[in-house]
Amino acid sequence: MSSKGTAAFVGLGVMGYPMAGHLARNGHAVTVFNRTTEKAERWVADHNGGLAASPAQAAAGADFVFTCVGNDDDLRAVVLGEAGVFAGMKSGACLVDHTTTSATVARELHVEAAQRGLGFLDAPVSGGQAGAENGQLTIMVGGDADPFERARPAMQCYGKAVTLMGPAGAGQLTKMVNQICIAGLVQALAEGMNFAVRAGLDGEQVLDVISKGAAQSWQMENRGRTMLRGEYEFGFAVDWMRKDLGICLDEADRNGARLPVTAIVDQLYKHVQQKGGRRFDTSSLMYLLAQD
Ligand SMILES: NC(=O)c1ccc[n+]([C@@H]2O[C@H](COP(=O)([O-])OP(=O)(O)OC[C@H]3O[C@@H](n4cnc5c(N)ncnc54)[C@H](OP(=O)(O)O)[C@@H]3O)[C@@H](O)[C@H]2O)c1
Repeated sequence: MSSKGTAAFVGLGVMGYPMAGHLARNGHAVTVFNRTTEKAERWVADHNGGLAASPAQAAAGADFVFTCVGNDDDLRAVVLGEAGVFAGMKSGACLVDHTTTSATVARELHVEAAQRGLGFLDAPVSGGQAGAENGQLTIMVGGDADPFERARPAMQCYGKAVTLMGPAGAGQLTKMVNQICIAGLVQALAEGMNFAVRAGLDGEQVLDVISKGAAQSWQMENRGRTMLRGEYEFGFAVDWMRKDLGICLDEADRNGARLPVTAIVDQLYKHVQQKGGRRFDTSSLMYLLAQD
C-alpha cells in the first residue's frame, strides 16, 4: 500500500500519460485504464502500476480517480457508461476530470457524483505536453472546497498552480477564458511574423527585439521561431482547439458575451483543417498566411 493513497487514471494520451506518471513517481499506487490497451501496457511497464480492463475496474478502491479524455461525449462514456468509473468508485472517493469540456457536462457530473456520495472536480489544465511532462501545468478547478483540499496534493504532483475558481463548471469556464485569450493572440503573432518576412526583415532578429518589449507572450517565446520555420507537426492540435473554441462560442451564446475575434479565428482553424492540418499545432494559423 502506498503512503499517498490509491489513484486511478483513465486516458493515457499526450497529457494523461505523463500526468499519471508524476502521480506514480510521487508515491501514489496508480491503476490505469486506456481504451487502446498497448498504451496502458507501456505505461505499466514504465511505472510499475496496475492495469485495469475497464474504467470501473481501475476506479474500484481508489481514493482519487483522474480522467483526461477527449470531449464531452468521451467523458460521459468513461464516467457514466456501464463499465464507467462511477460504477466502480467507492463511497467518499473523488473524481478529478482534466479533460477540457463544456461547463454543462461538468455541472451534470457534479450532480450525478453527489447523488452517489462521490466528489467531482472539473480541473482542466493549461501548459501543453511540455507542461504535463515537466509537471508544470496550470490547473483551474471547479467544485466543492472539501474534495478540492483533499485532491490538491495529488494535483500538485504535475501542477505548478492549482486553484479553486468557484463551484462546479468554474474550472471549465476559466479554461474557456484561457482559450479565448490565446486564439486572437496566435493570429496576431502569425500576422506579425508573416508581415516581418514579407517586409524583408530578419524574423528571428525581430523576435529577439520585440520579445523584450510590450508584445512579449508565451506564444511568442514558444511558437514564434517554429512559425518562421513553418514547423507545425507538434504541440496542441487544431482539432482540439476547434473543440475548445466551439465550447467557448456555445457558452458565449448563453451568457451574452461577444466573441468577434474568437469566431473569426475559429473559422481560420477550419481552413487549416480543410488543408490537412487537423493535427498541426495551433500556431499553424501562420501556414494560411504563408500560402497566400
Ligand atoms: N495536448 C495538449 O496540449 C492539451 C493541453 C491542454 C488541454 N488538453 C486537453 O486534454 C484532453 C486530452 O488531450 P490529449 O492531448 O492528451 O489527447 P490525446 O493524446 O488524443 O488522448 C486522448 C485520450 O483519451 C482517450 N479517449 C478518448 N476518447 C475516449 C473514449 N470515448 N473512451 C475511452 N477513452 C477515450 C484516448 O484513448 P486512445 O489512446 O484509445 O485513443 C487517449 O488516451 C483534451 O480534452 C484536450 O483538449 C490538451
